Amino acid sequence: MIWAVVPAAGSGRRFGGPIPKQYAQIGQQPLLHWTLSALAELGELAGLLVVIARDDPWWPGWGEIAGKPVLTAIGGAERCDSVMAGLKALPDSVGDQDFVLVHDAARPCVRANDIQRLIEQAALTDGGLLAAPVRDTLKRAGVDRAQPRIAGTQDRVGLWRAFTPQMFRRGPLLAALQASRARGEQPTDESAAIEASGLSPLLVEGAEDNLKVTTEYDLAIARLLLTARAPRAA
Ligand code: CTP
Ligand code: MG
Repeated sequence: MIWAVVPAAGSGRRFGGPIPKQYAQIGQQPLLHWTLSALAELGELAGLLVVIARDDPWWPGWGEIAGKPVLTAIGGAERCDSVMAGLKALPDSVGDQDFVLVHDAARPCVRANDIQRLIEQAALTDGGLLAAPVRDTLKRAGVDRAQPRIAGTQDRVGLWRAFTPQMFRRGPLLAALQASRARGEQPTDESAAIEASGLSPLLVEGAEDNLKVTTEYDLAIARLLLTARAPRAA
């Protein structure tokens, strides 16, 4: 059995608007409920630890979803601070060497079968993450940001886009994040901190529709995907 830590304490600056994006309505439910339901579908899931902002007025107070317990913790200034708060707040039944899934609240379209493969494959190693190979041709821009011109073409062979969930052992992940923070870094995913601690996380290829809702456009795509999959909840 495995716990999920879901950072949901961001303010969604790039998204804008009066309501944080994790509470944007998709069909009958806030976006965050779709994310938690996708995780709760997993048979192996023991529970959900949702990290919310201090004084979050939108948190509906869910105590369980699909029969899985939902606990909360209060997040911090950066995503990595929120993840650390979540890792610390997990129940004592989660050991230091137990694997934990960390999944962005803002990724409601993740597929249960991809998470299943991540759990099976990454558990045989030090951990890993869902990701997809880069498919576009990549251009590097020159120094002029106002009128960007191409300074070169970047070889995309071997480049991947990192998604979540990311699965690592509770104790080593917390230690790696704390070490990154102590160096003044703000790792944008768990893997970056684990990499800095000397390990090589496993890349598990997942569906590319596991998008992170960052802008209104992403929300429109997420609505289309989720309502097509679950027409009744729409
Ligand atoms: N997050 C968090 N605590 C923070 C910052 C982010 O828990 N201090 C969460 C967000 O709620 C989101 C996930 O981390 O589910 C990924 O972050 P991102 O997509 O960057 O969300 P925001 O930080 O809210 O958006 P923005 O960067 O545009 O402000
Ligand atoms: Mg952010």
